Amino acid sequence: MTIDKNFIDKFVNITSKAALASSYLVGKKDKIAADKAAVDSMRSELNNLEIKGQIVIGEGELDEAPMLYIGEKLGTNHGPEFDIAVDPLEGTNFVSNNLPGALSVIAIAEKNNLFKAPETYMEKISTKVKEKNVVDLDFSVKQNISNLSDYLNKNPENLTACILDRPRHKNIIEELKKLKVNLKLITDGDVSGALLVTEEKYNVDIFLGIGGGPEGVLAAAALDAFNCGFQGRFIFDTEDDKIRANKMGIKNLTKKYELNEIVSGDSIFCASGITSGDLVSGIQINDNEFISETLVTHKSSGLKKVIKLKQKIE
Ligand code: FBP
Repeated sequence: MTIDKNFIDKFVNITSKAALASSYLVGKKDKIAADKAAVDSMRSELNNLEIKGQIVIGEGELDEAPMLYIGEKLGTNHGPEFDIAVDPLEGTNFVSNNLPGALSVIAIAEKNNLFKAPETYMEKISTKVKEKNVVDLDFSVKQNISNLSDYLNKNPENLTACILDRPRHKNIIEELKKLKVNLKLITDGDVSGALLVTEEKYNVDIFLGIGGGPEGVLAAAALDAFNCGFQGRFIFDTEDDKIRANKMGIKNLTKKYELNEIVSGDSIFCASGITSGDLVSGIQINDNEFISETLVTHKSSGLKKVIKLKQKIE
């Protein structure tokens, strides 16, 4: 089964409108209001769709999120059954501080084909290489760089690694420096970071490190369409994390997930820019119209492109 192409425009429209809603809060130093604007817009638009949708990645679990919580049913309850992963505002700091790279993101797969991920951290790795045993979460940084260097026929000093600039990554960053790998350190926004391996123009060979689990699942959907490699391992540090994971049916808490254990079958991924970044430009408003840019992928039709839309502001 595949997801009907007609849904592509509908989901592009949903992330574009959520991006517009959040764009009014750019530079207002209010992360909560910026997130709420995107959440409200996305939820009400999703509820208009002729689908039987269920949130698998959302704003949190029922006890912590009143809207777009994991398990929430969305749509008119007629039409195809979809798993839906959302990050209405990816990069709350970016919007709050008027910095590049804020996105509104959604991924859809057919029912039971997207991983239901709890709100925990995930160790992740993405590359343009799909073959097994070139890069792997179980290999050391040194091994991964050496294998990637051989595979791509590029010296380590010509490789670039993208990683969130966090104290927890001190050792990885030190190791990469020792290996003379170029660094692209990002302050936030690792959905975008993970996707920089998809095209030569971004000049990133590997993305690695620990970021949000939900962001990992969203990125995996796009990486699948780009035929890139991805692995993720959730990190359940606290007793509470472990209990939540168990409730969601995750038995093996240290399992390394391959891309197709996170997303399988057909999928649509949309990421609309709120502020301009590496992947897409941000929202532009002119009088009563707005222009949005959305990176969209549809696995079964091979669609992978940036769609620019001019629409009336309702
Ligand atoms: P928010 O939009 O929820 O603020 O997330 C931004 C982000 O940078 C994600 O892209 C990333 O996965 C996560 O935060 C990293 O978490 P932390 O800031 O705790 O290192």
